[in-house]
Amino acid sequence: MTETADHKDSYSPSAEFAAAANAGAELYEQASADRDAFWAEQASRLHWHQPWGQVLDWSDAPVAKWFADGKLNVAYNCVDRHVLDGHGDQVAIHWEGEPGDSRAVTYRELLAEVSRAANYFTELGLEAGDRVAIYMPMVPEAIVAMLACARLGLTHSVVFAGFSPTALRQRVDDASARLIITTDGQWRRGKAAPLKEAVDEALFANGDVPHSVEHVLVVRRTEIEVPWTEGRDLWWHETVTQASPEHEAQPFDAEHPLFILYTSGTTGKPKGILHTSGGYLTQVSYTHHNVFDHKAGQDVYWCTADIGWVTGHSYIVYGPLSNRATQVVYEGTPNFPDEHRHWQIVEKYGVSIYYTAPTLVRTFMKWGREIPAAHDLSSLRLLGSVGEPINPEAWRWYRDVIGAGTAPVVDTWWQTETGAIMISPLPGVTATKPGAAMAPLPGISALVVDEEGKPVQRGETEANGYLVLDQPWPSMLRGIWGDMERYRATYWERYAAQGWYFAGDGAKLDADGDLWVLGRVDDVMNVSGHRISTAEVESALVGHSGVAEAAVVGASDETTGQGIVAFVILTAEAKDTGAALVDELKAEVSREISPIARPREIHVVPELPKTRSGKIMRRLLRDVAEGRELGDTSTLVDPNVFEAIRATKA
Ligand code: PRX
Repeated sequence: MTETADHKDSYSPSAEFAAAANAGAELYEQASADRDAFWAEQASRLHWHQPWGQVLDWSDAPVAKWFADGKLNVAYNCVDRHVLDGHGDQVAIHWEGEPGDSRAVTYRELLAEVSRAANYFTELGLEAGDRVAIYMPMVPEAIVAMLACARLGLTHSVVFAGFSPTALRQRVDDASARLIITTDGQWRRGKAAPLKEAVDEALFANGDVPHSVEHVLVVRRTEIEVPWTEGRDLWWHETVTQASPEHEAQPFDAEHPLFILYTSGTTGKPKGILHTSGGYLTQVSYTHHNVFDHKAGQDVYWCTADIGWVTGHSYIVYGPLSNRATQVVYEGTPNFPDEHRHWQIVEKYGVSIYYTAPTLVRTFMKWGREIPAAHDLSSLRLLGSVGEPINPEAWRWYRDVIGAGTAPVVDTWWQTETGAIMISPLPGVTATKPGAAMAPLPGISALVVDEEGKPVQRGETEANGYLVLDQPWPSMLRGIWGDMERYRATYWERYAAQGWYFAGDGAKLDADGDLWVLGRVDDVMNVSGHRISTAEVESALVGHSGVAEAAVVGASDETTGQGIVAFVILTAEAKDTGAALVDELKAEVSREISPIARPREIHVVPELPKTRSGKIMRRLLRDVAEGRELGDTSTLVDPNVFEAIRATKA
């Protein structure tokens, strides 16, 4: 540990770790000497059926083409080639079910499963370019389904299994999915919760409004009863499992759409972020190899995310499998049957690389260090963090208590839109500081600038710095599904003159020039690492007949990073039934969106603070929610409104 200019502590990797690391400092030099050549070299780590003509074509900015004219098959890269290279018996997935059942899936078995699914999807008449919705818990078949889509050039849209039928329907309709893959139910803290039922509810919503779905393919997981529509619904074990395990992967263009993943923006309508094949796979593979220092055949890797989020796509499915990882996939919650579960799993499989979200680290801190201390965690040699800023205290605890004071911690900044890690330490090179993402990875370029686009200076802590990406990168989104105008407006308008991507995050550079990401600067909240828009929650609240108007803000929360705080005005007819009404409104939001969007607090207020132009002043509501002195209220129509709002909080 050494002292640096403006932070108490920084941590260099041990000489031993540095000497054995995949990435050395020379990577930065190689990348800056010739960016295109650098990315070409990274792409060469993959198998290409046909080589590319041009590394980057940015002539149609902001829609990039990477490795144009190259052809590859993403699933072949993640599965077939490892079997062909003689690693068929290596375990790809150590799957741990919530009730305690487990399955080891080798690369050879994974290939057979993916081939079966590909053969059956073909039998269903699905063709390259068609969309498939995947609404599943963390079971191996979910990964098989994603890979089978990739193998056939079908574009998958994974919808987090915690999302409501309404949210599922919205996503299925937006992408016109022909097939939905789901499970009968999912295990949640020892109980089997229905999931197929939610699919039916989604498809029968809006009466008999026509939709695109031809079939619903159902994996049996909990054996609970399911509603069934003959002809439309199909059991996985009666179809996929019976199909041939032989299938030859065909090559697709590097720019062939691989997946759509919906994420929250600043309006109520989620954005279908579109990713393509060659550039995406290149960067997820490169980052997984170098940021996690992954050694195929030696490490046991565990990313605790869910496949419903981008972290699950990039660092459970495509990154690790392209690098021939042996990984743990866990179905359940960290405290079932008790708070020891994660550390038991680490011990059981000898996990060496562990990647999770700060909110979980803070939860572990709350549960107490005696819980991890009861286990042999000596296999852990690298720890990763993602999804939100990690506070220095949690960072140090993570390194000391989970990483025995020696494991490097990589704080990785990226987004659904970036597809892969962008800003992060390199574990064998960087002297890390608790709470800092440090620097763009080799091959990646980012700036911290002010409103006008002028770079902020090092150590300028007062300045409002915005994070921008000033160069295209291989795994960048290629657009918003069905709405390219929104793509341009959301990310490229703010710094249109400079041609930069605006990330929506605030950031600063410390006196050493190291980068700190400070969190969203738009109306997007980050609750336990999940992105939720204030507008989405507001629209769910006003969907309730008793609510006339709603304003939602993210207020800082010790465990979840931010908590959702809502202020509502009731309609004249509504009766303020106090706690009962608040509970009902919270339940409404859970139902409409997901339990993850359930507000922490709802305050019934007589009025909302608005500017003369009618805009709700969220900044002031955040002050109230966080119990701060109010900022400037002079632009309010009626400054007295706060007295009334405060009174409701007391
Ligand atoms: O605000 C940043 C925060 O999460 C946002 C992206 O959310 P999502 O698209 O859901 O992807 C999450 C997983 C990649 C970012 O705009 N964020 C993510 N990682 C970090 C972070 N904030 C600070 N530090 C991070 N390491």
